Amino acid sequence: MLVLLPLVLLPLASAFSIHIATNLTARKLLHQRSPGLALHNFQDINYHANIDLGGQSFTVLIDTGSADLWVAGNVANSTDTGQRAQGRYAQKNVEGPVKTADLHFGDYRVPDQAFLQVQPDDSHLENFGTLGLGPSSGSSFHNLLTPPAADPVLYRLFHQNITAPNYFTILLGREKDPTDRFTGTLTVGEIIGQYRSILAQPRLNITKLPDDVDGDQHLQVLLDEEGIIGPDGEPIPLLSEVRHSGSPARPTVVFDSGFSLPQVPRSVADAIYGKFAGAQYVSINGIGSVWILPCRHEVNVSFRFGGRVYPIHPLDMTMCVGLLVVLVGCLLMVSYRQPEDLGLGMLSNNTIRGERACIGTFQPFTFERGSQPSFDMVLGMAFMRNVYTLFDYGDFVPDSVEDLREEPYVQLLSLTDPVEAHTDFVTVRLATRDDGDEDEDGDAPPASASSSRVHSAIVAAVAVVGVLIVLAGFFVYRARRGRGVR
Ligand SMILES: *[C@@H]1O[C@H](CO)[C@@H](O)[C@H](O)[C@H]1NC(C)=O
Ligand SMILES: *[C@@H]1O[C@H](CO)[C@@H](O)[C@H](O)[C@H]1NC(C)=O
Ligand SMILES: *[C@@H]1O[C@H](CO)[C@@H](O)[C@H](O)[C@H]1NC(C)=O
Ligand SMILES: *[C@@H]1O[C@H](CO)[C@@H](O)[C@H](O)[C@H]1NC(C)=O
Ligand SMILES: *[C@@H]1O[C@H](CO)[C@@H](O)[C@H](O)[C@H]1NC(C)=O
Ligand SMILES: *[C@@H]1O[C@H](CO)[C@@H](O)[C@H](O)[C@H]1NC(C)=O
Repeated sequence: MLVLLPLVLLPLASAFSIHIATNLTARKLLHQRSPGLALHNFQDINYHANIDLGGQSFTVLIDTGSADLWVAGNVANSTDTGQRAQGRYAQKNVEGPVKTADLHFGDYRVPDQAFLQVQPDDSHLENFGTLGLGPSSGSSFHNLLTPPAADPVLYRLFHQNITAPNYFTILLGREKDPTDRFTGTLTVGEIIGQYRSILAQPRLNITKLPDDVDGDQHLQVLLDEEGIIGPDGEPIPLLSEVRHSGSPARPTVVFDSGFSLPQVPRSVADAIYGKFAGAQYVSINGIGSVWILPCRHEVNVSFRFGGRVYPIHPLDMTMCVGLLVVLVGCLLMVSYRQPEDLGLGMLSNNTIRGERACIGTFQPFTFERGSQPSFDMVLGMAFMRNVYTLFDYGDFVPDSVEDLREEPYVQLLSLTDPVEAHTDFVTVRLATRDDGDEDEDGDAPPASASSSRVHSAIVAAVAVVGVLIVLAGFFVYRARRGRGVR
């Protein structure tokens, strides 16, 4: 179900884009200059791309938290390997025959790429799928065939040119950013020209899991000590729950583009959002427990990796929810009379009635990490929009030429200038007029009681639909390897 809903919305995304002020010239320029594969951004809650498999076009989510390629729908021009496999995702597994077909996306071509062909249903819409970019130890089917025949897409590309670097890079755009207009790009073995300085950033070693649990291996690194700087400028304490052999107890963080909302311990979310006036910790159907707070609050947080500071854009620290953004602005607190009836009981609290409310994007864990967690935080899209990220697979890739067999590492180039980000925030969230599609009804004075009730019913209906849809969008389609799943 998780994957399903966002996919349903994809066609809507283009319809909605007319509401979003875009500088097509700038966007086009960037795309012309960029190598790689263009990513499309749906409401900052998922990033997808078009691929061509056996001559057919599919729209796939870009997921650094899983390793396999699967698509829903028959790929006519393909070869059946005779094997079946199951891809494990937290919300809904996928299952079907393992086939091979020629794959083409962006500048990249792979002959006879192995993929899982899934029967389309309500949860897996025809012509949609997921492109996993994570380590192959997490693949559900690459051991079914003799490697490299069934290797994940990235590994096939790495092997095609063994002298090219074994890395891929991801750039994710921000939907409402008034100054940076790109939507996103994925590259393999090459760098987006204007961000070459990423190669000079500190190399953050990917921490490796022991062999017996390497199916849980993610793209994970250690955070610096005192590596989260909160809104008051003070470090937010975080004790690692990951057991290291000897190494210091710095927190382990996973970079996972399959999560819209970063997942953090409750204490961290509380420290970030809990002190803002009007903030409430609530449970929202489909999203889970989360802080909500008036959208006007500018939340400044930074992370530290490799001795560098990575500021997070305040537009990424809180967000309006999904469709509501387009239709009525952020959640409107003003007119709910009997919110309990709507399953939106949290909106009844007087503390933020009358103000637009946003959710705090850094969310307390919505899933169990098990008794021996292998990470302390999952930094998803809201974090990843602030950095250009390079993942070097080093010796995750067997049979590379000798001098490329280095330890796997990550490099992060900060893209967020705090001063510009502040101006962006003021433009988008605080401007009284013309703040894009966010505002609309947000500042409308309350009308008469009865018309306000009608209004409230409409808003409520829209809210319910929006929240339902948003659920889907929420990454909760967490890539395979659910704890305890073996
Ligand atoms: C759009 O972007 C181009 C290229 O960056 C720039 O020259 C132009 O002034 C921009 N137009 C607007 C309306 O911002
Ligand atoms: C089927 O795939 C082959 C390459 O594997 C390609 O040459 C051919 O054009 C494709 N046929 C169709 C009908 O797409
Ligand atoms: C392989 O990669 C190297 C380094 O990026 C590049 O110079 C070379 O042209 C590539 N070869 C092929 C066949 O693509
Ligand atoms: C990263 O790994 C390399 C190779 O194992 C090692 O030499 C280096 O000290 C590590 N860096 C850090 C910061 O741990
Ligand atoms: C609702 O507001 C009251 C104060 O008016 C506060 O005591 C209570 O904790 C709030 N409830 C939640 C869930 O935040
Ligand atoms: C957030 O940071 C920006 C840039 O440093 C600063 O201008 C702004 O005042 C800060 N806002 C808050 C609420 O601290």
